[in-house]
Amino acid sequence: MRYSQEVIDSVRAANDIVDVISQYVKLEKKGSDYFGLCPFHSEKTGSFSVSRKKQMYYCFGCHRGGNVFKFIMDHEHMEFVEAVQLLAKRSGIALPQVEMTREQREKESLKNQLMEINKEAATYYYRLLHSDRGKHALDYFEGRALSKETMQRFGLGYSDQYSNDLYQFLRKKGYTDEVLKQSGLVTIDEVKGGHDKFWNRAMFPIMDQYSKVVAFGGRVLGEGEPKYLNSPETPVFHKSRTLYGLHLARRSRRDGMILCEGYMDVIALHQAGFDHAVASLGTALTPGHAGIIARFTKKVYLSYDSDKAGVNAALRAIPILRSAGLTPLVVHMDPYKDPDEFIKALGTAEYEKRLEEAENFFFFQAHQLEKNYDLKDPAAKTAFQQELAGMLMGFSDEMERNNYADAICRMFHIPVDTMKRYIISLAQQNTGLTSRRPIQEEEGPRRQKRDSGMEKSQMLLLSWLVDRPDLFPRIRELVGPEDFDEGLLQDVAKMLYQQMEDAGVFNPAAIADRFEDSEDQERVTHIFYEDVRVLHETPEAEKNRALVETLTKVVQNGYDKRRSAMEETDPSLITLVIEERAQIDKIKKMKIINA
Ligand code: UTP
Ligand code: MN
Repeated sequence: MRYSQEVIDSVRAANDIVDVISQYVKLEKKGSDYFGLCPFHSEKTGSFSVSRKKQMYYCFGCHRGGNVFKFIMDHEHMEFVEAVQLLAKRSGIALPQVEMTREQREKESLKNQLMEINKEAATYYYRLLHSDRGKHALDYFEGRALSKETMQRFGLGYSDQYSNDLYQFLRKKGYTDEVLKQSGLVTIDEVKGGHDKFWNRAMFPIMDQYSKVVAFGGRVLGEGEPKYLNSPETPVFHKSRTLYGLHLARRSRRDGMILCEGYMDVIALHQAGFDHAVASLGTALTPGHAGIIARFTKKVYLSYDSDKAGVNAALRAIPILRSAGLTPLVVHMDPYKDPDEFIKALGTAEYEKRLEEAENFFFFQAHQLEKNYDLKDPAAKTAFQQELAGMLMGFSDEMERNNYADAICRMFHIPVDTMKRYIISLAQQNTGLTSRRPIQEEEGPRRQKRDSGMEKSQMLLLSWLVDRPDLFPRIRELVGPEDFDEGLLQDVAKMLYQQMEDAGVFNPAAIADRFEDSEDQERVTHIFYEDVRVLHETPEAEKNRALVETLTKVVQNGYDKRRSAMEETDPSLITLVIEERAQIDKIKKMKIINA
């Protein structure tokens, strides 16, 4: 960051967020907050809220949010430093000369340059497509039934037959070999000089969620290997965190997101009006991808290819999506291979129907499993049913587990009592095996489910704090920042506690600035907004119970962490366990909020 924290704080303090945003958006006061139509996605009812108390904004529709700097960055498409400068000017604050370490300056300027290069390249490829030289690429796109408008929306282009013309073009723009090398768009050979990575390919610019080009995919025209060539990882492109089409899908008004396999599927779906489609590119789905989707929606339609590879990819994606707290549904496209072919053959309405009929992920898993067993053979049948029981154990919530057990037993004609008894015996075996640390012995998916629930409780506790600073003195006695998970949550907790100790007030807008990564900034905003809504929706009479439950979980987590850091034989383990019990009992009996 270029300016000192003091300078940034004073610029923020001099620019009240309600005043600033009012210059761009018509706001109306409702209760203690202000509401208006979101400037970042099209909507008819205002889900865009601005809070004077928090000095932050948040859209409940598209989930954009942050402090006053973030608003200017998003709205004016500026970098952080530019936003600081604009607001300093607005409020008549004189900024000191830039202060940044050499290393920071270099890093920032490299990233900026790489973004510029990608933008230049995208424009270059786009122009080529629409020139004489791009005729056969344009024919190719048209042959795949893409409209002019679609090509424009996705910024499609063409890299021509010369093997170094992009390199020459970028050199003329003044970029050095040193920087160009890191863009992934060219290779530099000591002897032969610069060479383009992509040539004679149909070009798909890959954009980040803010619509900035960060990389490219290029498809061969005609036959050849590889069919798709993608930019390598660069300082601005991380495959495991990038989803193709997200910049559009995040603003979609449709329910959930469609996850498909590649470029053409996303584009065909968007062209057919399914503007909530995204794809991970040239890589399997990662927890990083799932986490990003989870920030926008809870429901994911898996629309992978219907061949064996696609089914296996879906089976691998399901637990990853579940761990991120998402509900996957599987879209069946038979007899067609992928969404692109399906829509060409049967059209939009049919695909819409398939979305509605999408299969619950658990039923899909069970049906795929069934294929491995000959159910006429009693031994195989038993093994199949036992396997199903094991899968049911993945639901840690009892009610949910029972509902799935009922449904699956009906589906496969299994006596439901037998199944439930078997599950209970499995559970007993498991706990019998595990002595002191049951959590670590649990199976993968359950463990992860617990984690995401844990994260939720920690986030909830932080939003309780910000919403009700009067509770801080009591909560501080029970929970310290070290009880939160290391990383973003603990960092936020530390800063909140510090603010309270130093100044006696919370300043969430200042916390958002401490995170350079805009993804982190949005996660922080999410804590202070989305979760606070949960609190407001909790009936008054329930509030104490809900807070006590949340506190218990976080305190328990703190103890879990301390215990797992100790040796089994450590004599103070017992003391800790006793203390833990007493502390938890105490919290459970507490009345922190009077309804
Ligand atoms: P497919 O081979 O199914 O391609 O790969 P597709 O999207 O149907 O391609 P078209 O319709 O023939 O143009 C699915 C996705 O996997 C990635 C691409 O993202 C592709 O869209 N892929 C595939 C690669 O990254 N490299 C490859 O060599 C092949
Ligand atoms: Mn295809």
